[in-house]
Amino acid sequence: MTYPPEISRVTRSKAQAMIAYDRLSRWYDWLSASSEQPLTELGLKKLNVGIGETALEIGFGTGPALLAMASAVGDSGGVVGIDISRGMFKVASERIAHANLSQRVTLEQGDAVALPFASDSFDAIFISFTLELFDTPEISIVLSECRRVLKPGGRIGVVAMARDEQENIPQRIYEWFHQRLPAYVDCRPIYVQSTISQSGFQIQSIARKMMWGLPVEICLAQKTATEGKK
Ligand SMILES: C[S@@+](CC[C@H](N)C(=O)[O-])C[C@H]1O[C@@H](n2cnc3c(N)ncnc32)[C@H](O)[C@@H]1O
Repeated sequence: MTYPPEISRVTRSKAQAMIAYDRLSRWYDWLSASSEQPLTELGLKKLNVGIGETALEIGFGTGPALLAMASAVGDSGGVVGIDISRGMFKVASERIAHANLSQRVTLEQGDAVALPFASDSFDAIFISFTLELFDTPEISIVLSECRRVLKPGGRIGVVAMARDEQENIPQRIYEWFHQRLPAYVDCRPIYVQSTISQSGFQIQSIARKMMWGLPVEICLAQKTATEGKK
């Protein structure tokens, strides 16, 4: 066995992910209200998107963070989101339209392993409960895509289930479901801080919370201000 232990693989296909999240889209707000949402809000607070900024969300789900960021950037800023699920796209679009913020938000339906955006375009990127549902080789690809599309000095906020080197009982139970129901329990705990720093970001802060007895880390990191400049 390697040390630290390797994170579990994600074995479901992208087509299965689309089907599962399409089905979940109508219930997701209800399911996440008392578990994920308060931690997502903490992540947004740390990212602290401000007036005039351009922000990207990867895996926007039903869109609560898109909405918060669209309010924060004002008329001079903009928010872009990408999500693989058509169902989530529909629910989030309706939410943004209902809040009269469609002018500030552009949504894409697609796979975030290849971001369809120009390099150096965003001031901030937010990823909440989504990085841990990419398969192991894809996590570093997604993070390097994030680094590419962030402006020098841009920041990334990640909220994700965190793996401890020593597994606890809730983590074992969760992993048991992840192995047996890969199409539905597709995410699994990852080494949040080390994965982000190994992808070339400078860690600014890390906070740790618990959800269902599992650790969740809220990480703020930065692309160096001089990256890409000679
Ligand atoms: C667990 S949900 C989290 C949603 C939202 N960020 C939140 O915190 O409420 C994960 C989201 O990632 C999306 N997703 C899954 N795989 C993706 C991929 N390869 N590219 C982009 N989005 C993906 C799903 O459709 C879903 O909306």
